[in-house]
Parts: sequence; structure tokens; C-alpha cells
Amino acid sequence: METVVSGIRSTGNLHLGNYFGALRNFIKMQESANCYFFIADYHSLTTHPDPAALHGNVRSILAEYLAAGLDPEKSAIFIQSDMPQVAELYLLLNMHAYIGELERTASFKEKMRKHADNVNAGLLTYPTLMAADILIHRADKVPVGKDQEQHLEMTRKFARRFNTKYGVNYFPEPEPYNFGSDLVKVPGLDGSGKMGKSEGNGIYLADSDTDIRKKVMRAVTDSGPTEPNSEMPETIRNIFTLLEIVSSPDTVAYFRERYADCSIRYGDLKKQLAEDIIATVAPIRERIVAIQNDDVYLSQVARRGAERAQESARKTIAEVREIMGIKRF
Ligand code: TYM
Repeated sequence: METVVSGIRSTGNLHLGNYFGALRNFIKMQESANCYFFIADYHSLTTHPDPAALHGNVRSILAEYLAAGLDPEKSAIFIQSDMPQVAELYLLLNMHAYIGELERTASFKEKMRKHADNVNAGLLTYPTLMAADILIHRADKVPVGKDQEQHLEMTRKFARRFNTKYGVNYFPEPEPYNFGSDLVKVPGLDGSGKMGKSEGNGIYLADSDTDIRKKVMRAVTDSGPTEPNSEMPETIRNIFTLLEIVSSPDTVAYFRERYADCSIRYGDLKKQLAEDIIATVAPIRERIVAIQNDDVYLSQVARRGAERAQESARKTIAEVREIMGIKRF
């Protein structure tokens, strides 16, 4: 059976990018694979070290995982910081990660620009911690959005390097994965770029119907096509990308035709988009409300998940120590 690992940082509530880029795939994959899904709270410390908010963020993502359909009977659902083995593998992998390649990582360069006052070693070694999360379970597949592609390339490189250095065939080279198609990039509602937590352009799984309608109606558009079959500008393409993600093919075709013959009314397009987003989000939101204050259930899930994940992680660490020549007296 294939092993699947993935996680989401605990920097705030989950948005549609997280859901369609990652979480929806977690839910499908748990039916047929050996799955480990976690909340990356260590990773959130690289940019959001806020002791007052950290636990609350972890807890809301845990509730959102469960509300969206992750099943603790099928997957190991756990918190990254409950895994000392991950911290150890991170340390060991860092011995074979070169400063040059870490500095060249696109996400590091972007973070250097955005957080110029806090370019810390955790940011630099973000990809080795992520590789440790994945390799600790010797994963085959990692469901992620398009923005994680380079991190996965580095994970494969670290796995290959370890195997070559120690003359073993120990770590599989894990592939990024999206159910049945290419990795996705869910656009934001502000006309350009991807939906993100720090971009302020997101629709969240916890948003009310009213918020969703308001946000969608405010999405950036233009004055409309003036010539038949004209090419769409990025702002409009983004709205169609969202429509393709949440709406039926008939709906998408209907609005594409209206765009092509210049009869489209963006108000109608947005209304439809908002309703189709609500159809995805509303049932999840209702379950979030039901679960989020159930402390007993949430801690049961996290403890049980950590036990399962640690079982697999302990085995890997023992084998890695053996391969690297670390022996106990
Ligand atoms: P994070 O927390 O930024 O995002 C979590 C997941 O959501 C996906 N995602 C998107 N997908 C499509 N369109 C978007 N607009 C969008 N925004 C976010 C991301 O691709 C990701 O899959 N480094 C990871 C967390 C992590 C991890 C791991 C993932 C830590 N260790 C090990 C997999 C395996 C991150 O920052 O994701």
C-alpha cells in the first residue's frame, strides 16, 4: 500500500486554496492509502512566532481537517511538534543540505523580501524540515498545491543524496500529487496571484454565506469584452478558474459562451460563483462549529494520531541512525 504524507502550516484558518490544493486530496487519498496528515506548527514559527495565537491556530485547523472529512479511523492526524523524531531527522538531513541550494529556494528568496527583518535559520532550512516531515514516513506521494513543487523537488534530492551517500536504497523519492490531474494554483479574488493567508484575498472554510457573497461580489473585474472571442485578462481568467473548481461543467460552458459573444454580465457570473462556493463551504462550516469546542474529541484525535505517526517515525529514525553509524553504548 502506498504511503501518503502532507501537512498545512498553522498560520490561520484554512482557505479555498488549502482546500482545493491540498485538503480535498487528503480526504480522497485516505480511502486507499496509508495516510499521515499533520498540522505544521514548527513551520509556522519561521514567520509567525506568536505564543498567544499558536495553540488556537493548531486547534482550529484540527477542527477544520475533521469537519472537511479527514477521518481519524483512516488517517493518522497529528501535530508536527508532537513528533520529536521529525526534529531529529531534520537535524540529520541538515548535515547534507547545502547552504547554496537552500539560499536559491524560491520561497526563501520571497520570504527574505517580505520579512527582511527576520531572515532566520529556520526559514533557510524550511525545505529540510519539510523533507523530514515526509521522509520520516518514507512517503511515496505528497498531496500539495502548485506552490510546493520546488519543496518536493528538494525533498527528492535530499532522499537521493542520502541514498547515494550511504550506499543504500532507503528513502523512496516522493512525488507531489493531485488527484487525477496537475497540481493546482487557486487564484485570489484580487485580480492577480494565488489565494493566500497573507495576501488577504481569500475565502475561508469558516466564512459565513454573507461574507462569501460580499467577497465574491467585490472580486476585481473589468468593463467586459468588447470583441467576440477575445482573450481574457488575468482578472477574468482567475474568476473562471475558480468557477471551474467549484461549478459544474455546464455552468462553466454557459459563462464561457457569454464571454465569447460579449453578452456576459459579471454580476450574474459572480452570483453563480458565490452560490457554488457556498455549496462547498457551508456544510464544512457547520461541522467546524460543531467540532471546534469539543476539547475532549480534539485531544483524543491528536493523541491517537501522534501515537500512530510516532510508531512509523521511531522505526525510520532507528534505521537512519543505523545507516549513519549512530550507535548506543
Ligand atoms: P501551506 O500551509 O502554505 O499550504 C498548505 C497546502 O495548501 C496549498 N495551497 C494552495 N494550493 C493551491 N492554490 C493555492 N492558492 C494554495 N494556497 C495554499 C499548498 O500548496 C499546500 O499544499 N510547506 C507547506 C506545509 C508543509 C508540508 C510539509 C506539506 C510542511 N511540511 C510536508 C507537505 C508535506 C506549506 O507551507 O503549506
